[in-house]
Amino acid sequence: MDDEVPPELAGHPDRLRWNGKYGTAGASFTPHRLAVRALSQPPPDGPVLDLACGPSGSTLLAAEHGRRVTAVDVSEVALALLDAEARRRGVRDLITLIHADLGEWTSAVPGGFALVLCTGYWDRAVFAPAADAVTAGGLLAWEAFTVDARRVRPRLPAEWCLAPGEPASLLPAGFTVLDQQDVPDPEHGTKRGLIARRVGPS
Ligand SMILES: C[S@@+](CC[C@H](N)C(=O)[O-])C[C@H]1O[C@@H](n2cnc3c(N)ncnc32)[C@H](O)[C@@H]1O
Repeated sequence: MDDEVPPELAGHPDRLRWNGKYGTAGASFTPHRLAVRALSQPPPDGPVLDLACGPSGSTLLAAEHGRRVTAVDVSEVALALLDAEARRRGVRDLITLIHADLGEWTSAVPGGFALVLCTGYWDRAVFAPAADAVTAGGLLAWEAFTVDARRVRPRLPAEWCLAPGEPASLLPAGFTVLDQQDVPDPEHGTKRGLIARRVGPS
């Protein structure tokens, strides 16, 4: 990963906010439960795309399963933590780190991923290109806060939250929902997780 911050990200509010959080809190590298479930389906052979990865235990788990992983995040502090842990575990060669704003990067997202994973992030504009990046027979796994979470976190912007039925209702044709369920959390707010499969060759 290039150490230089791209000029377009220099003042990016998400980058500054998350760099601050990770700089203070560090990382646990615990794989997300949705990633564990998606990888155990399992997806067909092929690479994984981890969007808004953070210092991702999910990326590390996928690499430890022998998958190539492209991990994208706006925070270079998160990516540096992931970089160091991947080297320590001997899986760095399998991981491509991309420092980017998903809102921009997904306009040209490459396709052919056996699993596209996104946890802890929601942007409606990113969902369709992310789904398009799933190969035939591959999986899309997503988890984000629902609008219900705003009852316990009123400052959570509505556009960061899933509306009723989302994200399954936004899937393009050719996907089958394997599982969509709410994960209640009275302290932090309800999240909703989706695993869907793109119809593959029969
Ligand atoms: C709640 S954390 C989730 C991290 C990880 N996916 C997980 O489940 O633990 C949200 C992540 O989204 C990233 N992020 C926020 N806005 C972004 C953007 N516009 N483009 C790319 N990444 C972004 C943050 O840097 C942070 O790592």
